[in-house]
Amino acid sequence: MKKDLLSIYELETADFDRIWKKAARLKKLLKEGKEHASLKGKTLGMIFDKSSTRTRISFEVGMYQLGGIALFLNSRDTQIGRGETIADSARMMSRYLNGIMIRTFAQASVEEFARYATIPVINGLTDLFHPCQILSDLFTIKEKKGSYERLKVAYIGDGNNIANSWIEAAARLPIQLALACPKGYEPNREIMTKCAKQASEGITLYNDPLEAARNADVLYTDVWTSMGQEAEDKERKKIFKNYSINKKLLGEAKKDAIVMHCLPAHRGEEITADVIDGPHSVVIDEAENRLHVQKAILEILL
Ligand code: CP
Ligand code: NVA
Repeated sequence: MKKDLLSIYELETADFDRIWKKAARLKKLLKEGKEHASLKGKTLGMIFDKSSTRTRISFEVGMYQLGGIALFLNSRDTQIGRGETIADSARMMSRYLNGIMIRTFAQASVEEFARYATIPVINGLTDLFHPCQILSDLFTIKEKKGSYERLKVAYIGDGNNIANSWIEAAARLPIQLALACPKGYEPNREIMTKCAKQASEGITLYNDPLEAARNADVLYTDVWTSMGQEAEDKERKKIFKNYSINKKLLGEAKKDAIVMHCLPAHRGEEITADVIDGPHSVVIDEAENRLHVQKAILEILL
């Protein structure tokens, strides 16, 4: 039966281990310049309803490196943008392609696509989740710290798709998660309630970023205004102004803490330039790992 990747919650311990092993091997092979065409002749369709730099490049290059090809499908230029149904698109595309990656607004759309498709569907970001990002981030933490087990990850900022996927990760893996979000901008309540009960190391929600950052091994942030929220940008800048990873906040974390950001970053907003460009930051390695981890996901699903 085909498998999809729509959220972190649906993964089991063995799935994570399989992804890390494969990603590490694929990364090593690439660095050694060894060809590895495990998906020769395979095709991935990539439907984008929102902008992207990393997700598009890493999936496209990843498919190429594995011997297959990826098709960039901007939904504005397809019949989906003119009202063709998800059901028809999913059933029909399943006859041409071996897999689909979708970046869109509603999580329900990706789920509907997956229900009708007979090929694997990968969530490349929705308003609710960004599983590929957080899987790559976990891999990066493993690389930098040896393991993520019992480490404290402090997420500072908006309770958005990235925060929700971190919460799901904490329900599945032994990481201690602390989030600091302004009132009214907390993560999805349903996801939080469900995952907090299952999180072995705990998930704590604060309003004060300093409290969340205390003794953290990883400081993580994301934009204050996500794609689709552009009209709220001015208001959000006021509300979030104290939710910035700066030197002071970094001072609350462990001495050897790493600073992560899924990118794109806005220096002077959710993170200061001295921190994101400073010695604790691993954001470029983090972005690189999207490639290796997604290649592992593609190998497993396709
Ligand atoms: N982090 C991330 O998904 O980046 P893009 O929006 O550039 O794909
Ligand atoms: N929360 C951001 C993540 C971008 C990768 C957004 O959805 O725009």
